[in-house]
Amino acid sequence: MSKPTPTPQPEGFVVKDPKKVAGSRAAELVQDGMVVGLGTGSTVYFTLTTLAQRIREEGLSIQGVPTSLDTGAKAQSMGIPLIGLDQVARIDLTIDGADEADHHYRLTKGGGGALLREKIVASLSEYVAIVMTPQKLVSKLGRSFALPVEVVPFAGPVVNRQFGRWGARAKLRRTSDGKIYLTDNHNQIYDLTFEDGIADPAALERELAILPGVVESGLFIDLAHRLYLGKPDGTCEVMTRVDPKTP
Ligand code: A5P
Repeated sequence: MSKPTPTPQPEGFVVKDPKKVAGSRAAELVQDGMVVGLGTGSTVYFTLTTLAQRIREEGLSIQGVPTSLDTGAKAQSMGIPLIGLDQVARIDLTIDGADEADHHYRLTKGGGGALLREKIVASLSEYVAIVMTPQKLVSKLGRSFALPVEVVPFAGPVVNRQFGRWGARAKLRRTSDGKIYLTDNHNQIYDLTFEDGIADPAALERELAILPGVVESGLFIDLAHRLYLGKPDGTCEVMTRVDPKTP
């Protein structure tokens, strides 16, 4: 079989990191004086670096609410001022990543294990912007990525049996060295796979929410307002929900 011929690129074409494109572009939404929810993951990392640069170069004044210990540590090392939920009642804008998003702005999140704090922060936010790559925009959630569910360790075996009754394959998340993965909140994560994706994400979110032992699911329904899709040519497609609230 002959090798595929690479697509010719115009002279001077430089391939950009799509995560950096999306992460930094969304940082433009941040205005002076805002309380900003800081998401978790490798795409939001570039939001953090851009915000840190704006703080240094423009004197931008913000207070960040981190969604994980990891993001808190990174933001602090970059010089982004942080504030706790004990000091703020609402958040102006949150920028976070996602594992998948559909055309109804519903998301699956928690690939990095931070779903619980991410959902709390998103639910307190006036506006939520999601930074991602175009591959994560899907027609049906749950087909390309397992759905993470955070579970109290004591209830693990019980909820696992219930997941099976719903026709989901549940896998207890482990670290690369085989230990049971624990979240920042000392809970476990089950990653759920459905045969043909998630038929009704809102209904599944409700079912999971009332299951004793489940702390939170990675289904984010009606929380995201805008998607930033970074591309390797350096452009960023911005999709905004029809009922946007301007941050
Ligand atoms: C963290 O728990 C997740 O919800 C992340 O936001 C999500 O996995 C996206 O991460 P990346 O930007 O690293 O793909």
